[in-house]
Parts: sequence; structure tokens; C-alpha cells
Amino acid sequence: MLPAQFAACCKAGSPLPRGACAWFGRRQMPARAVSGQTIDVDASAAAGPWPPGFFDRRDPTDDADFYAAPRFVTHIDNGAIRAVTELYDELGLPKGRMLDLMSSWVSHLSRRPDGGLVVLGMNAAELHANPLADERVLQDLNREPRLPFDDGTFDSVTCCVSIDYLIKPVAVLHEAARVLRPGGLVVITFSNRCFPTKAIRGWLATDDTGHADIVRGYLEQVGDFGPVTAERRTPARHGGDPLYGVWAARLSHHEADR
Ligand SMILES: C[S@@+](CC[C@H](N)C(=O)[O-])C[C@H]1O[C@@H](n2cnc3c(N)ncnc32)[C@H](O)[C@@H]1O
Repeated sequence: MLPAQFAACCKAGSPLPRGACAWFGRRQMPARAVSGQTIDVDASAAAGPWPPGFFDRRDPTDDADFYAAPRFVTHIDNGAIRAVTELYDELGLPKGRMLDLMSSWVSHLSRRPDGGLVVLGMNAAELHANPLADERVLQDLNREPRLPFDDGTFDSVTCCVSIDYLIKPVAVLHEAARVLRPGGLVVITFSNRCFPTKAIRGWLATDDTGHADIVRGYLEQVGDFGPVTAERRTPARHGGDPLYGVWAARLSHHEADR
């Protein structure tokens, strides 16, 4: 019997046998190893600009279909979830107003944020089951990257184990910068598993370090963020799912114009 997070990744429309999906989630993929299309991805390319095919997906059909059925599962194990919560606490996220992008029924917070929690995702039932949320937005960011919020209205924007599904990540993160107050944080976390048919090919073609480079590249491309920090948040010898965090603060308009 596979743990819930494996089953979740495997069941969700992947034509791969269950074992293969678990294998896929664990193994670091060498460059050029994705079937169907060869692309060159290495640390320098991953920092952008991105090569042709980087944002293609094996399943380009409507995300609404893929996420139509709720998945009341966790996509990473408890140790990795704890690492997300600890990172959020360390960065002080529960003290402000938070927007959790690509959210579900869990936002991995230690408590309800003082300024409230807005969750945005693809499945209404999952979002409605999120016990800490006080506002829920159903939106396909691959169709509409613009966020339905006023400028500077959040203290933090998070995206947990989902950045690899975005085909226009820079546009979405540009929006994240717009809705953040100056000094507000964007915090992106990921592990080493995914729904492979829905992840972009550039993500599937590289390893954990490459993923951190990709996310750093996205944030640097936006231009409205200060220095980017990227860290492995689970211990190096940790036997469970690894957890990586990449974060940066939104610059003030004055700083961004310099
Ligand atoms: C692996 S789950 C992660 C859910 C949650 N962030 C967590 O930590 O458990 C991926 C999530 O991304 C959301 N998602 C996928 N594609 C999306 C899109 N195009 N626009 C908005 N959300 C999307 C789905 O609704 C799903 O909840």
C-alpha cells in the first residue's frame, strides 16, 4: 500500500503505473530524459531565459478537468509539511495577511494569520474545506494570471508544491509582487514529486538544485523582488520527502526603480 501522497500523485490522471509514479517522484531526472521532447536544461539555462518547449506539458488540456475531483490528501509527507510550517513561522507569515496560491484544503500554517488568509486554487470543495481561510477564489492561473486583488494588500504570498504547474510563472509572480506591500514576502516551497503530466517539461528535465535555480530565475525575472534566498529546509540526511524554500521580499517602488 502506497502512502497517501504517492497515491495522490499517481491516481491523478497519470497513465503511469503506481510504482512508476512513485519512482518518478523520487528520482532525480537527468537533462534530456523527458520522453516526447528533448530540451536542454542545465543550471545556466534554468536561470532563464528559458528554451523553447520549457513551459510545455505532456497534458496540455484544460486544468479544470484535471482538478475537477477533490483530492483530500497531502502531497508531501509529515516531515516536509512540518518544514513548510516552520519556514512560514520563521518568516513571520502568520502575523500578516496571506494569499496562498494554488491552494487546497491545507495551507500548512501553525495558526490563522492575523490579517486573514485568502486561498486561490482550482477545486472549490478543497478550498471550502480549508479551515483557516476566510476568502476563497477559484481561478485557473494558466488561463488568467491576473490576481483579483488590489495593489499592496497582502503581507505574504505563498505557493506550496505547485509552482511546477504554471505555464506563465513570471506573469503570476509579477502579480504576486503587485498585490504584496513593500517588504512583503513571496515564499515558494517544493519537494521532489509532482503530477508529471501537468508539470512543465523544464521542471521534469532537471533535479532539485535545478528547480531552485528555476524558481530563483522566475523571481529575478519579475524584477520587483529583492535578493532571493533558496534553502533546503529538511536535513541533508533526512529520509523522507525533501523540502526546499525559495523566497524574496517585494521591493518598494523607489527601490525597484533604481
Ligand atoms: C500538488 S497540489 C498542492 C496543493 C497545496 N498547495 C498543498 O500544499 O497541498 C497542486 C494544487 O495546485 C492547484 N493548481 C494546479 N493548477 C492550477 C492552475 N492552473 N491555477 C490555479 N491553481 C492550480 C490545484 O488546485 C492543486 O490544489
